[in-house]
Amino acid sequence: MTTPRLHFPARLIGLLLMCLAPVATGLPAGAQTVEQKLEENVGEVFVLSIGGKLYDNLFTMTGQEVPKKNNPNFPDYVSSKSLGTWRCVSCHGWDYGGADGERGATGKSSAFRSLRTMVGLDPKIVATKFRSAPHGYDAEVLPDFVVDILALFLSVGQYDRGLLLDDKGTSKGSAEAGQPIFEGACSNCHQLDGRAYLRGESGDKSSLGWLARNRPEQVLHKIMNGFPGTDMLAMRFMPDQQIADLMAYVRTLDAKQK
Ligand code: HEC
Ligand code: HEC
Repeated sequence: MTTPRLHFPARLIGLLLMCLAPVATGLPAGAQTVEQKLEENVGEVFVLSIGGKLYDNLFTMTGQEVPKKNNPNFPDYVSSKSLGTWRCVSCHGWDYGGADGERGATGKSSAFRSLRTMVGLDPKIVATKFRSAPHGYDAEVLPDFVVDILALFLSVGQYDRGLLLDDKGTSKGSAEAGQPIFEGACSNCHQLDGRAYLRGESGDKSSLGWLARNRPEQVLHKIMNGFPGTDMLAMRFMPDQQIADLMAYVRTLDAKQK
């Protein structure tokens, strides 16, 4: 998969600097500035995985406090409140198709908006959608550079659900081909049975197998982008086929956990 190199708006560099502080300390005197180094060297996997993590949990990523009151725009008949009413994922879903649509809980699909239409749109246009109703995030909660990264993520960083999962949420990949990926990349932390190292979202069981069978979109998002504030990897560098294979294998883990 080759994608065009992204241009990073200068404001975006702020967040990257925070994440890459070690690069700064390692620079010899007279070398490029850190900004120059970042603009030349930071690639899209890094930036988009930060975007994905912001989409998942803005507050963990930026260190801001979650507003104390519930988001007034969050419909009270929806049960996904446990995700926190201010997180992008709470309203737009783990597959970006609108949380309500994904859960199928209420049938009132107009409550949330699919963000699939943002794919391929100029990030500058996507960035205009955040400040006005129904969002109401002010610049303190959502600084401009965070908006830029989120806009890039929505434009070029969304995974394509249809490529990876069928209508029932079953992976289209091969479990046999996914096993070596899991054993090489995941088992160190999550163990061979996929039951270690998980706290997760509210209602999750500590089992990757259970998660992949019951919450495949959530698992895909986390595999692609990592888990905010933890050591979890961002696997979006892998081709779609390998992501699908990995998902197919993870589904087979811990099969007794229904
Ligand atoms: C309380 C629920 C809620 C939360 C939280 C939320 N949104 Fe939205 N969002 C909506 C709704 C509803 C719309 C449709 C607005 C409209 O009809 O004009 C929308 C529209 C959008 C659009 C424009 C879609 C279009 O078709 O024009 C974008 C982009 C977007 N949201 C991104 C985000 C991001 C990124 C976050 C997190 C920072 C977020 N939203 C958080 C409810 C939410
Ligand atoms: C360096 C350790 C590490 C490695 C390697 C690792 N993870 Fe994780 N993973 C974590 C941590 C830490 C979390 C966050 C757990 C928490 O707080 O719930 C996590 C969370 C997850 C979640 C989210 C669970 C949820 O509740 O939504 C999934 C899915 C996941 N990992 C899958 C994988 C897969 C698949 C691989 C291999 C490609 C992998 N991880 C490799 C450490 C790791």
